Amino acid sequence: MQPAGVARRLLRHAAQPLAAQLPKLLSAGGALAVQRPAAGEGHPVSDEELVRGGTASAPAVEFLEHPDLAEIVGDLSRPQKRLPTRLLYDERGSHLFERICETRDYYVTRAELEILSRDLDDIAGFAGAGAGVIEPGAGCGCKTRELLSALEDPRWYAPLDIDPSVLWRCREAIRQALPHLPLVPVCADFTQPWCHAGLPVAERRLLFFPGSTVGNFEPVQAQRLLGRFRDAAGPGGRLILGVDLRKNAATLRRAYDDGEGITASFNLNLLARLNREHGADFDTAAFEHLAVYDKALHRIEMHLRSRRDQWVRIGGCRFHFAAGETIHTESSHKYLPGGMVALAAAAGWQAQKLWMDPQRRFALMGFEAAPRKQPNTEVKEDNMAATKKSSGGRRYGKGAARTVASAMRRRKRGTLKSGPGGKGGTVRSRKQAIAIGLSEARRKGAKVPPKKAGGGSK
Ligand SMILES: C[S@@+](CC[C@H](N)C(=O)[O-])C[C@H]1O[C@@H](n2cnc3c(N)ncnc32)[C@H](O)[C@@H]1O
Repeated sequence: MQPAGVARRLLRHAAQPLAAQLPKLLSAGGALAVQRPAAGEGHPVSDEELVRGGTASAPAVEFLEHPDLAEIVGDLSRPQKRLPTRLLYDERGSHLFERICETRDYYVTRAELEILSRDLDDIAGFAGAGAGVIEPGAGCGCKTRELLSALEDPRWYAPLDIDPSVLWRCREAIRQALPHLPLVPVCADFTQPWCHAGLPVAERRLLFFPGSTVGNFEPVQAQRLLGRFRDAAGPGGRLILGVDLRKNAATLRRAYDDGEGITASFNLNLLARLNREHGADFDTAAFEHLAVYDKALHRIEMHLRSRRDQWVRIGGCRFHFAAGETIHTESSHKYLPGGMVALAAAAGWQAQKLWMDPQRRFALMGFEAAPRKQPNTEVKEDNMAATKKSSGGRRYGKGAARTVASAMRRRKRGTLKSGPGGKGGTVRSRKQAIAIGLSEARRKGAKVPPKKAGGGSK
């Protein structure tokens, strides 16, 4: 990266006084509250990094007011260039995302809708009566309409999204379908801890986070985000989480590089957006979309690959792209149910329910807010390997977590039997399924803590 022109720019850190940014959340009438996004966290960039080439005595300074721009320049300055994933979603990006959901190759939305329609009563029962529903990253709210209609006496619905245009459409659609439901749309970055501030009270809060959006975060960030949702939900709160499950690489690559080329347009729109909104001069035809599956990290990555050697200007800086060099724009982590149970437990959520489509491509998982005393231990490495059981804080190895997850799946299918050699009755209880999973793991020699004296596994 090189500063462009004589005046180099110092990117002001985006921490603005929050009180000044927080608009008044609007009454239950449903007008749109826009909370100005601050620079995304987790991407700290030092001033030196941003003003490479400046001198201490004469730092030519120009302030770039837009926090997104500071983050963009910082991200493009990294050895592996990247861009903030949330910027994929502007008006055009949101429309393109909805078209992706309709493609043959993108199984994610179809699988999730299948679960929602098949298990709707059970899901609504789990959510309980009198809930205030918060949906981070609501998009057009298409999946939520069904859920809201099935809930018993929902108090209000607060869709949160970074893109005001999609939030507007969401509000209109819900208003038409459920004219009596109070709406509190909030335009904000859901990674910011203050984005839930000021939402109305309800008997209990339900966080609905479908679409596998949680997969867009590194496991450690996902845990932090779910911890924030736990704070927003409060005591007795519930979470219904959409989780895309691990599957073969070819299916995943097709889903993120569909034959109709819609995902490619979605990804490339990010560069067009930077040209439009931040005066960048990306030649969008000189980049191509790429979907790569990283087996070790269990994630599919979207990149934009430079077709030739080129320079691009943005934010007063010039960035060099070698031919073949890529910008990483999105990751979608894929989980096993047991891995997500562990990750959510570390964020203060106790797993209660698991719903899957018949082909087991996708899971909706139901969680209840754990009592406050739960430790909030960060999941550090692979989300399966770092399992730490919330009750009792005991560590299981990877093999044990897998066996427990398998027992849970068999319980769900109704094929898990109790008794010696599986000759007993069908197991319905979650605790019993975990105990069976653990004793199977012990038999296989997996790392499992010894049984407590006088009692079975919990
Ligand atoms: C994968 S789409 C899911 C949309 C919808 N929930 C669904 O299940 O189809 C992600 C949504 O989250 C929104 N989004 C992404 N990052 C966000 C952020 N940091 N804060 C708020 N909304 C965000 C996008 O605008 C988009 O509507």
